[in-house]
Amino acid sequence: MTIRTIGVVGAGTMGNGIAQVFAQAGYTVRLVDIAQPMLDRAALGIDKSLAKFVEKGKLTADARDAVLARLTFANALDYLAEVDFVVEAIVENAEVKRDLFGRLDALTRPDVILSSNTSSISITLLGAATRRPDKVLGMHFMNPVPLMTLVELIRGQSTSDESMQTAIGLCTALGKNGVEAADYPGFIANRILMPMLNEAFFAVMEGVGTPEAIDAVMKGGMNHPMGPLTLADFIGLDVCLAILNVLHEGLGDPKYRPCPLLRRMVAAGHLGRKSGRGFYTYA
Ligand SMILES: NC(=O)c1ccc[n+]([C@@H]2O[C@H](COP(=O)([O-])OP(=O)(O)OC[C@H]3O[C@@H](n4cnc5c(N)ncnc54)[C@H](O)[C@@H]3O)[C@@H](O)[C@H]2O)c1
Repeated sequence: MTIRTIGVVGAGTMGNGIAQVFAQAGYTVRLVDIAQPMLDRAALGIDKSLAKFVEKGKLTADARDAVLARLTFANALDYLAEVDFVVEAIVENAEVKRDLFGRLDALTRPDVILSSNTSSISITLLGAATRRPDKVLGMHFMNPVPLMTLVELIRGQSTSDESMQTAIGLCTALGKNGVEAADYPGFIANRILMPMLNEAFFAVMEGVGTPEAIDAVMKGGMNHPMGPLTLADFIGLDVCLAILNVLHEGLGDPKYRPCPLLRRMVAAGHLGRKSGRGFYTYA
């Protein structure tokens, strides 16, 4: 099957970037979310991001218009009935994702691959919610999607070689590098990243340093491009907490226990950049 139309579910931090890069690579993209305000916000975000590419001379104004013409939005899942490939990028919650995968399975053609952008949740578990577990895989894009070249590709217990090859081909078409990881909690990226971010949360909680000091040490001392607390705000503190919960529950090791300060901030609605307040405040 030739893949022409991509369905993206979830228009939050990741979904709008994923939709944008597929449209920039020449695919027709249908972006769906349950929340109309998120779709409106995604449309604005994509406009802004493309404008930056035009400003920098990396995209012509005509090419930008063509990208925008390939992108459409809807708040009903039925809009994805005719797509050739799906990327799911909704909230990091296994039950909500499993319910969606069941509905996508009923809605889309049986030969369509259903991929998830999950940061940590078992691809095997999502595949088991469908009648096509061989066509379910993880396609874990990095934030911000238009700039980051890595895609972690996760093979579930039943994912076929053919499905993996299709995903690798799509990464190449997007100009990105697909790296395969096995289906264990957090895969490679978050198995390694999240314990570091969690340690930075504990360091704030225990008064080891201010967020500014901790970020300055990791940037200047370790040559990280962004400090861990700035990065956590960028990812979304709710997303960090959801990932740490999956790591803690799935691996059983207390070293993944989410920091109580993180739990408290999420409970207060301080989710980082997207809510305007996290370890830092945003206009
Ligand atoms: N934020 C990051 O840096 C990052 C990086 C890589 C992967 N991820 C993963 O990507 C996924 C999305 O994360 P995000 O940060 O974009 O989240 P987000 O909270 O910014 O957006 C989630 C979106 O999903 C929508 N949604 C929720 N339930 C839905 C449903 N049933 N149907 C349709 N839409 C629904 C919400 O309205 C919201 O717009 C998660 O699995 C997350 O772990 C996030």
